[in-house]
Amino acid sequence: MDIQGLRREYANHGLDASELDADPVAQFRLWFKQACDAGILEPNAMVLATVGRDGAPSSRVVLLKAFDARGFTFFTNLRGRKATELADNPRASMTFPWVDLERQVHLHGRVEPVAAAETLAYFKSRPYGSQLGAWASEQSQPIASRAALEARMDELRRLHPEGQVPVPPHWGGLRLVPDTFEFWQGRPSRLHDRFQYLREGQSWKASRLQP
Ligand SMILES: Cc1cc2nc3c(=O)[nH]c(=O)nc-3n(C[C@H](O)[C@H](O)[C@H](O)COP(=O)(O)O)c2cc1C
Repeated sequence: MDIQGLRREYANHGLDASELDADPVAQFRLWFKQACDAGILEPNAMVLATVGRDGAPSSRVVLLKAFDARGFTFFTNLRGRKATELADNPRASMTFPWVDLERQVHLHGRVEPVAAAETLAYFKSRPYGSQLGAWASEQSQPIASRAALEARMDELRRLHPEGQVPVPPHWGGLRLVPDTFEFWQGRPSRLHDRFQYLREGQSWKASRLQP
C-alpha cells in the first residue's frame, strides 16, 4: 500500500466570504444539511477532543445530537474519560470530518451540562437496548470479559422492563458553547478555503485563513 501516493485534488466547491452566513450556526446548519443530503455515513459523527489534568489531549468520535444558538450537544457517560477530563477542564474542540464533501468544520469552546429535562427527553427517545446499555457500562473502565457485560445486561433487563428505564445518574448531555468556528473547503493545489469565526460579544467576526 503506497500511502504517500494516496492523494486527490479537491475541486468540488469553492467558498467565498460573500456566501458565508454572518451567523456561524446558520452556516453550520447549511453544511450539515448538505452532509445529510449527500448520504454520507453518520453525518453527525465528530471528533471530540479534550485535555486531561496532566495536559495530555485525548480524542474520540461522538455523535452530535442537537445544535442551536446555545451550542452543540452530545450524550455520554458522565464518569468516563472524556467527561472526567471536561469536569477538570471544560475547554474542548469538535471536528466534523466531512471528507466526502471535501469539507471539515472545527468548533472550540467550553462544555457545560445540559438541563436534566433535556437529557430525559433524549434518553426516552433511545431504543430500549441503548437505554440499558447506558446503565450497563462503566465507560472507560476495564472489564474482565464480554460475558460479564452481557450478564449485566440480562440483570438490567429483569430490573427495568421496556418503557420503564430511568435515566442513569451517571449519564447525560453535554453542550459545547463555541467561541470559534472554522469552515474548511478543499481546493485544488492545496490552496484550500478556510474561514474562521471569532465571537465578538453578541456577534461574530469572520476572516479568511491561509490554507
Ligand atoms: C460512530 C461512533 C459514534 C459514537 N458515539 C458516541 C456517543 O454519542 N457518545 C459516547 O459516549 N460515545 C460514543 N462513541 C464511543 C466513543 O468514541 C468512545 O469510545 C467512548 O465515548 C469512550 O470515550 P472516553 O473513554 O474517552 O470517555 C462513538 C463511537 C463511534 C465510532
